[in-house]
Amino acid sequence: MARHLITSAIPYINGIKHLGNLVGSQLPADLYARYLRARGHEVLFLCATDEHGTPAELAAAKAGKPVADYCAEMHAVQAELARGFRLSFDHFGRSSSRQNHALTQHFAGKLDAAGLIEEVQEQQVYSNADKRFLPDRYIEGTCPNCGYDKARGDQCENCTKQLDPTDLIAPRSAISGSNDLEVRQTKHLYLRQSVLKDTLDAWIDSKTDWPVLTTSIAKKWLHDGDGLKDRGITRDLDWGIPVRRGKEEWPGMEGKVFYVWFDAPIEYIACASEWSEAQGLDASAWERWWRTDKGADDVRYTQFMGKDNVPFHTLSFPATILGSAEPWKLVDHLKSFNYLTYDGGQFSTSQGRGIFMDQALEILPADYWRWWLLSHAPESSDAEFTWENFQVSVNKDLADVLGNFVSRITKFCRSKFGERVPDGGAFGPDEMDLLHAIQERLGRYEALMQAIEVRKSAQELRAIWASGNEYLQTVAPWSTFKTDPEKAAMQTRLGLNLAHFFGVISSPFVPDASEVILESFGTPAAGWPESANTAVDQLKAGHAFTVPDVLFAKITDEQREKWQSDFSGT
Ligand code: 2FM
Ligand code: ZN
Repeated sequence: MARHLITSAIPYINGIKHLGNLVGSQLPADLYARYLRARGHEVLFLCATDEHGTPAELAAAKAGKPVADYCAEMHAVQAELARGFRLSFDHFGRSSSRQNHALTQHFAGKLDAAGLIEEVQEQQVYSNADKRFLPDRYIEGTCPNCGYDKARGDQCENCTKQLDPTDLIAPRSAISGSNDLEVRQTKHLYLRQSVLKDTLDAWIDSKTDWPVLTTSIAKKWLHDGDGLKDRGITRDLDWGIPVRRGKEEWPGMEGKVFYVWFDAPIEYIACASEWSEAQGLDASAWERWWRTDKGADDVRYTQFMGKDNVPFHTLSFPATILGSAEPWKLVDHLKSFNYLTYDGGQFSTSQGRGIFMDQALEILPADYWRWWLLSHAPESSDAEFTWENFQVSVNKDLADVLGNFVSRITKFCRSKFGERVPDGGAFGPDEMDLLHAIQERLGRYEALMQAIEVRKSAQELRAIWASGNEYLQTVAPWSTFKTDPEKAAMQTRLGLNLAHFFGVISSPFVPDASEVILESFGTPAAGWPESANTAVDQLKAGHAFTVPDVLFAKITDEQREKWQSDFSGT
């Protein structure tokens, strides 16, 4: 038994996330957390809302609410949707928490003490109409790289180039639209992460088991073009964590806050502290997950995120941790994902194109989405959601293979032997062959889950379900029953045990269906099997069960067509 700390990239507070966001971090992180718990490991699985920065302020302004109220409301909405998708966070925190304020200021103090903070006088765009500086997304204009005319001050959405507000051509205020802008002097703190370049380089080189997607992005940022630039970690905004050196004021930095990307990853740590407080535990409870001097040495820490987040997690956040010279845990494994596209284009929040988490749960239960998203996770390349593909996947994998198997064997047993597992004696050659094949597949499934090969794990799991169906089809207990009821009983006993086994091993992917299956066998806490042989010996002759309700309904062509048009966007 090992200890696993798992974090998912923390979603921005502004609005409900779409399925592309979900499959890029929270959902695969949940898959892994559920798997490790099922294997008996101790897991602390954390996520939170990312509440600072211009996106939060702008969204609150648009909603006509004070930003603190807006964030509290949206946190509750996102937490409810997370429960709806069965995301099994041990804690769903908030980057605006008291704990994150204190820790972020603490890190800034330590970095400063280590000589890694520089005070820089810089040019910033000031809006005379709005009477304020316009950082990041408060400013829009034409991208100097690709000519896109709605590029934001921090990044061009069209070509993904990272920008500074002063790079934009024909800039305007995103608040008022005014182009009465001027450049003014203002002071900001910079994190001298370039000093840590060689340390970070060596650290990344030591991570030989990281996905290529992760290391290639990290290396690109470390060596290409601008390389590892020192980074402004403060902003002229009202909403955020006030700039302090630990608990002390920072002269000259009054009225400024830390940049959202400085405090967001620190929330991974603060969230553990929020968790321990919520549990009524003292600080040692969370420190044993995060402080290597307080027991976190034997923790394995895995992070999940979309590829756009990789630079911040491989370079900036490690620079914060290493630069502090304190014994904080560094990430051990970093699983990153490509993008999910929607029906031939991008998911678009502004155009309402694609499926958002709330809408998804309004039309189908979580398991349907979980299965499709995980079995099509954008791992080696971007993946595309199409309604046709979704329909095929749900109908074939879930309804025809898993659902049908469970329904068929439990109903057959009820009709011939009643709602108790029949006996029927020892397994014969067909059963031994099947168990041999399942044993091999189970081993592969476990290795793939351990390695967080999400798609391949789903394929292997599906193949295990399919082998159960093929077995039933081949030995046909309903035919055997006519000539050899004893043998049919043995085949049925095996079939029921397989259904139970599928319930156990499918729980990371489809937790609700798994729960229904196990409840129908009266074994809600069934543990992970040691082998295929022990798995099919769990339910002994005489064990009572009930036939579960239909596990998965098929998606009809009419439904598919309706949804396709409903979600096509404006
Ligand atoms: O891309 C995003 O949704 C960011 N809010 C992720 C932040 S992850 C971390 F650093 F906290
Ligand atoms: Zn561009």
